[in-house]
Amino acid sequence: MDRFENKIALITGSTQGIGLACALRLASEGADIILNGRKYDERAEDAIRQINAMGRKASFIESDMSRQDDVTSLITKGVAVYGQLDILVNNAGVEKNHSFWEVTEEEYDLVMNTNLKGVFFLTQAFVNYCRNSNRPGVVINMSSVHEEIIFPHFAAYCASKGALKMLTRNLATELAPLNIRINNVAPGAISTPINHTLIDNPELLANVLKNIPLKKLGQPKDVAAVVAFLASDDAGYVTGSTYFVDGGLTYHYEEQ
Ligand code: NAI
Ligand code: BGC
Repeated sequence: MDRFENKIALITGSTQGIGLACALRLASEGADIILNGRKYDERAEDAIRQINAMGRKASFIESDMSRQDDVTSLITKGVAVYGQLDILVNNAGVEKNHSFWEVTEEEYDLVMNTNLKGVFFLTQAFVNYCRNSNRPGVVINMSSVHEEIIFPHFAAYCASKGALKMLTRNLATELAPLNIRINNVAPGAISTPINHTLIDNPELLANVLKNIPLKKLGQPKDVAAVVAFLASDDAGYVTGSTYFVDGGLTYHYEEQ
């Protein structure tokens, strides 16, 4: 039996990169999918087409995870589409590469509002939906290895992902009595558009690969496989954890 038969999953920022891979993976195991992004475009259209080709339903809801009104209304809109919601993947995220002394308030707000405030209040809306409808739920936050390790010149990004680590630990305890599990996935360097500077620069890429024991970038589907595990009943006893998908990057050390 498919692991996600009769399940509906909402994935934020899901028309490219890791979010799209999660949508396709969950659909391939039987879920119907609500996609999200800031604008409906050809990527959304193509994602819907791919999911429909698997025999699953897919819809797209336009909303901006850095805007509080959009965040608080997304769950209500999502439930209205197929009548229920079972899985929330908080995937949308942004990063800004700047030395600490150059970061503007606008950049700080964009990163924190998307990566932390949006996740906080979207999860709150999902939890309230689960409580009011007396349904269990699963939440997966797309964190990063940078919830644990430093990332010079990305201070706001690191702060946002570090906060996700404590948010998830805290909520695991608060939400367990409601039968809601919550976990983080912490990807390392994954080949997606967010990393275009790295992918397009062989010297930079070679430097990064030196720190990765598996000596390659990860692919979005590597992350999606772990998300699917955490979303499934196979992970029924897993809550409050972070799963690293990083080719060994986080705890890498060599003397020569
Ligand atoms: P990406 O840039 O390819 O995809 C991010 C998606 O989120 C895009 O579709 C974008 O339009 C959407 N998005 C951004 N801001 C949004 C907003 N305000 N509202 C709605 N949608 C929004 O990046 P990628 O790599 O797929 O990243 C996905 C998540 O994975 C992010 O949270 C990122 O921090 C995290 N991550 C990525 C890693 C990597 O190496 N690619 C490593 C660790 C974490
Ligand atoms: C960042 C990527 C980076 C990776 C490993 C992610 O959180 O979004 O840009 O390559 O961490 O450092």
